[in-house]
Amino acid sequence: MPNYLIGVTGGIACYKTITLCRLLMKAGHDVRVIMTDNACKFVTPLTFETITRNRAYVDEFDAGLAPDIIEHIDLANWADEFVIAPATANSMAKIANGIADNLLTSTVLVYKKPIVFSPAMNVDMYANVATQTNLKRLAEMGHQIIEPGVGEMACQAEGKGRMAEPEEIFQMLCGDMPLEGVNILVTAGPTVEPIDPVRYISNRSSGKMGVAIAKKAMAMGANVKVVAGPVSVSLEGLNCVSVQTADEMLAAVKADLSKVNILIMAAAVADYKVSEYSDKKIKKNSENMSIELEKNPDILKTIASDKDVKQVFVGFAAESNDVRENALKKLDAKNLDFIVANDISREDIGFETDQNEVSIYFSDGTTTESGKIEKSKVAELILSNALKLYKAKNGTV
Ligand code: PMT
Repeated sequence: MPNYLIGVTGGIACYKTITLCRLLMKAGHDVRVIMTDNACKFVTPLTFETITRNRAYVDEFDAGLAPDIIEHIDLANWADEFVIAPATANSMAKIANGIADNLLTSTVLVYKKPIVFSPAMNVDMYANVATQTNLKRLAEMGHQIIEPGVGEMACQAEGKGRMAEPEEIFQMLCGDMPLEGVNILVTAGPTVEPIDPVRYISNRSSGKMGVAIAKKAMAMGANVKVVAGPVSVSLEGLNCVSVQTADEMLAAVKADLSKVNILIMAAAVADYKVSEYSDKKIKKNSENMSIELEKNPDILKTIASDKDVKQVFVGFAAESNDVRENALKKLDAKNLDFIVANDISREDIGFETDQNEVSIYFSDGTTTESGKIEKSKVAELILSNALKLYKAKNGTV
């Protein structure tokens, strides 16, 4: 059983870490806690000591310890897993820059393996470029970041920055890996179809939906490959092929298709490209101009005939009207196991948002509704349904 070292920094979400410790203890792990001085203003060390049945460590120069104990070194060597929850903007900034000015940050410098960070802070602090830069830096150092949730915060602001729920963190740390050994290919983001060296045809897809699926699939143990158009979210930590056009996306999907168990096409592929690309910038010589467009290949339709009976193919349907009717047509025409339909006429879901609301239409005629939830939760719903079908097709149920 791995030993868990939990770093607690100063934020109201400290109360959630008590539950995380309790869950780890119940699962049979030995848990030790390091608190920053600010964390002690929200929760007392005694609370964690009572839950973990171990001393909660706070001060780097604590009196009364045996002289042969060097806390930050001994704790780092003792820990098999190191989780910092809540991780404040301040502590993450220090760690991203190698600052060691308290017991927690000193222990981080000694610890040799990746650390799991569960950020928690006000929405503007989270969005601040300094915080985002530090998060990127931590990810580049090999650490794992558990994305915060969206919702109402203690400061009454609404948005992204809530610490992930303790049950969710526990699941990520200790949960079983239902997709272990399963190869999943996810497409994400828009494609870009150039008109001339300056202009292009594209759409509003940010890549959030596809990346959420890829990250969740990884957390569930899958071997994940992402084929991504020019997305506006980080692809850090993902095994990714970057493409620009629909033709390039088709080629990248085809190249891996025979090894894929589950394909999830979340990308918003441009349906048309220019018939003739101009390698010189088109001059604005007349009041009107027309550009001739031709159809891009439909990736799902193109590969439909190569689909193996044991493979699961999932498509999305981005609809602004007659959602059900249009999605069902695509489900059939693209030979899919199920299609995930979202209403992209709504501003609060679909393109660019952190949340989505989807209807899933299965080829056996059944339907599931998600309600409006975070894209990571939509990802979970899609993956659990894809896994069920994969198991049924491969005789493992
Ligand atoms: O990226 P985000 O900002 O998070 O936004 C998420 C999203 C709105 C892009 C996503 O939820 C979504 O709906 N993705 C599919 C967008 C789309 O292209 O839908 P469609 O109805 O036009 O296409 C149906 C399916 O065919 C899709 O799986 C699509 O990937 C696929 N397709 C489309 C065109 C094409 N030439 N080849 C394809 O394979």
